[in-house]
Amino acid sequence: MARIVTTFPLPDAALELLHPIGAVAGPEGWRDALADAEALLCLLTDRVDAELLGRAPRLRIVANAVVGYEHVDRDACRARGITVTNTPDVLTDATADLAMALILAAARGLPRAERSLRAGEFHGWGFWDYLGAELGGRTLGIFGMGRIGRAVARRAAPFGMRVIYHSRARLPAEDEAAVGAEWVDFGGLMARSDVLSLHAPLTPATRHVIDAAALRRMRPGAFLVNTARGPLVDEAALVDALRDGPLAGAGLDVYEHEPRIHPGLLELPNVVLLPHIGSATRETRTRMAVLAARNVHAVLTGQPPLTPVP
Ligand code: DGY
Repeated sequence: MARIVTTFPLPDAALELLHPIGAVAGPEGWRDALADAEALLCLLTDRVDAELLGRAPRLRIVANAVVGYEHVDRDACRARGITVTNTPDVLTDATADLAMALILAAARGLPRAERSLRAGEFHGWGFWDYLGAELGGRTLGIFGMGRIGRAVARRAAPFGMRVIYHSRARLPAEDEAAVGAEWVDFGGLMARSDVLSLHAPLTPATRHVIDAAALRRMRPGAFLVNTARGPLVDEAALVDALRDGPLAGAGLDVYEHEPRIHPGLLELPNVVLLPHIGSATRETRTRMAVLAARNVHAVLTGQPPLTPVP
């Protein structure tokens, strides 16, 4: 029987897939269990590097139970012939829903209004109190038009938003028409977006793509939403742009030095801060764990993996 190691508690649906083909060890003592492991199920908080792989001489698959895989040293895995998989598709809707929630919360200033009520400052309806920005007629800019970017574009249309996007690769014309989005260059995205929502993976090319210079090009009163990866944004520059303009607010689910939050962000009233919960619904997390288990099942039974990463 194969030895399968997991770094996090698996739901029954995933265990039922794995039990017929192997013995599951972890999360308790998972590092020690790697010594005779053939499969590893892991998360974005587990650094899979050459040192870790060195503890697992029999490893055949790293089944990453999240979609991002920047924490996995793919070259080291490739050199050892270890398959790496992730969990695309199954978290698209949950993450796009959260991006929309952040867009609405930032534009309407929900946390500030809620804090004010809890602080006993709501003394009755006031005509000019708690004013926010409307989405209708405004432009949503999407950076990174993969699955999640497209799902956010589809959600924005019923709110009456115009959608523009910038992506490494331009979508075919029929896909652009299907999501109702117009391609623009990066400068155009910065200059025209009333709300900029980030949906690109973290790569050397996208690290700090939203830096001080990019932020300076944004419209006065614009909002930034990030449900992708924190290091896409230079957080110190973001704090400056929120304090001194041009940004009116931000909605963040991810951070540059996660789980550490820039102290400037914590002080600002015009920022919605969430603890990386884009895919955090019971249904989606179960689907992610099950897809990771299906990848393990495939590789350990001699089948091709379902969702290998390039
Ligand atoms: C991912 O899957 O990469 C997310 O950040 C967690 O859902």
